[in-house]
Amino acid sequence: MKIGAISDLHIDRNPKLEVQAYLASLTKVAMKRDIDILLIAGDISNHFQESYQFIRELQYKLSIPVLFVPGNHDYWVPDNSITSEEIYEFYAKQPECLIGKPYIINNDWAIVGHTAWYDYSYADNKFEIERIERGKYYGATWQDKVKIDWQMDDRTLSQFTAKQTKNDLEKVSDKNIILMTHIVTHPQFVVPTPHRIFDFFNAFIGTRDFDSLYKNFSIKYSIMGHVHFRKTLFDNGVTYMCPCLGYRREWRTDNIEEEMNHALVDFVIEE
Ligand SMILES: [Fe+2]
Repeated sequence: MKIGAISDLHIDRNPKLEVQAYLASLTKVAMKRDIDILLIAGDISNHFQESYQFIRELQYKLSIPVLFVPGNHDYWVPDNSITSEEIYEFYAKQPECLIGKPYIINNDWAIVGHTAWYDYSYADNKFEIERIERGKYYGATWQDKVKIDWQMDDRTLSQFTAKQTKNDLEKVSDKNIILMTHIVTHPQFVVPTPHRIFDFFNAFIGTRDFDSLYKNFSIKYSIMGHVHFRKTLFDNGVTYMCPCLGYRREWRTDNIEEEMNHALVDFVIEE
């Protein structure tokens, strides 16, 4: 059984490419690589309906299970007709969304997923929490501060998502786990520092609230996104993967199919 994973497609952020180009190239690459289950680690688009529509179309084209967790961008509110909490509820009830619904592959393996949330712990400790909470640095504003309206502060939300993930892990605690989050859960995946602005903005990249989950459950693979680096790391029995497609300006080539193929990771688990 071959599992494929990719993240941060941002299908609405490329003026030169239609959504269909994302759909067609990802479908082609996943088929060529013989993927049996495709995982999407969030940040599909800035609009929840477009994000979910993409998952549905991908699933239809591929005819394999396509499972996802929403990223922070997928919770952005388009206007004041809906809140981020309502968008969360919308995702949580979709069958392809992993939140609250571990996916059991077989007797030995299950997939657990959540967006997770950032807890500010990866910022340089010269910054006070009150300053980070405002999300402004060097004239830039962390856009979730503007586009997301959770009625919960970030650090509480991070703890809350870790607790929800723990509940899901307990449902499949006898199995090896593929964990998927959008937010980074390992310190070696944040933006390398010293960095002019990410000494500050790393606050919004990752969380330490998942540390204990790695200790207490048999997590073998950890897939995450958000940081737009493509990287794999083996640490303490866990293979961590960040398979971000990222924005067009971050690509090495002009060829979307090549970029999809480079970003997509796959691994084989025993059936
Ligand atoms: Fe993100």
